[in-house]
Amino acid sequence: MRIAISTGGGDAPGLNAVIRAAVLSALDRGWDVLGIKRGYAGLLGEDEVIALNREVVSGIGHLGGTILRTTNRGNPFHFPQLQADGTIVEIDRSDELIDRANELGIDAILTIGGDGSLAIAQQLYERGVKIVGVPKTIDNDVSCTITSFGFDTAVNTAIEAIDKLHTTAESHDRVIVLEVMGRDAGFIALHSGLAGTADVILIPEIPYNIERVCDKIRQRDRAGRHFSIVVAAEGAIPVGGRKSTIGDSLPGEAHRVGGIAEALAREIHRRTGKECRSLVLGHLQRGGMPTGYDRLLAARFGGAAVRAIADERWGEMVALQSPHIVCVPIAEVLRAPKRVELDHDVVLTARATGIAFGD
Ligand code: F6P
Repeated sequence: MRIAISTGGGDAPGLNAVIRAAVLSALDRGWDVLGIKRGYAGLLGEDEVIALNREVVSGIGHLGGTILRTTNRGNPFHFPQLQADGTIVEIDRSDELIDRANELGIDAILTIGGDGSLAIAQQLYERGVKIVGVPKTIDNDVSCTITSFGFDTAVNTAIEAIDKLHTTAESHDRVIVLEVMGRDAGFIALHSGLAGTADVILIPEIPYNIERVCDKIRQRDRAGRHFSIVVAAEGAIPVGGRKSTIGDSLPGEAHRVGGIAEALAREIHRRTGKECRSLVLGHLQRGGMPTGYDRLLAARFGGAAVRAIADERWGEMVALQSPHIVCVPIAEVLRAPKRVELDHDVVLTARATGIAFGD
């Protein structure tokens, strides 16, 4: 048996722990393991395919990033190709990928990725590729799994930032707006905001009214709390408005979500007269060592994925459905992205403890 591992999409702390556990579990069964570099680029002649053995995965379990590298621009069904005039044309290179995998004697692929990589996995599965998925997302937006590795690390990084912002905001009687990642999901903002005791949390699932946000800040002022911490998910949306995006994308690249923190800080200052500052936490949330929780979950996913391959659970993804790791068809996972449920206990507790959502 020869399996190949690929990591795709944005990196997440814990990828290396999945790779390590999967490689050691596969070697334990006497299988051969290959690593496809940079998503599927290694199979498309754009990068390498390497042997993954005990030495290669030794000492990587606690490291952030991925030893296989990754990309969110390498969909084999829509592979971007730069033209002489600077434009990008997307071509289908899936046949090439499948031929190369067959040439290398790859019996099964283990793909570790978020919604984009899982959608590619589903297409490959429909083309007859024997593939098993492991969910990876700091945003926690993959369905059918309670969580994925990377999310806990991102939330802890955001909590640490909120703790530090509290002391400086309080010293200066300022409002500080912290922008956290999450794309169209508000989990990082919600979880870090409640655990870090923010005053306002803005998430894409609850459109906000800026006047309601300012009301909360004024109300705190009147109560003698002259500072406020606003945690805004990068994809938060004002009622009737749109999410904020950053321009100047590379050719062929979608506009990036972001920029809400500074816009909010200016608007809150204009409306309340309070001194405001903003901070974009950005890729700090994706970097560094995974937390203990994420390392353990990643190792469990890696081991479970090899068992799923042994059981020929093709087209399925390992998932945490506490206390067990189970397998779910990727088609079911892709049916709808996971979003914050408005009646979830985390939202209810946040509201009951005085946190405003701007609604
Ligand atoms: O999906 C993970 C994520 O970190 C999002 O939270 C964020 O919007 C996006 O990726 C950033 O992508 P990039 O690293 O390409 O800027």
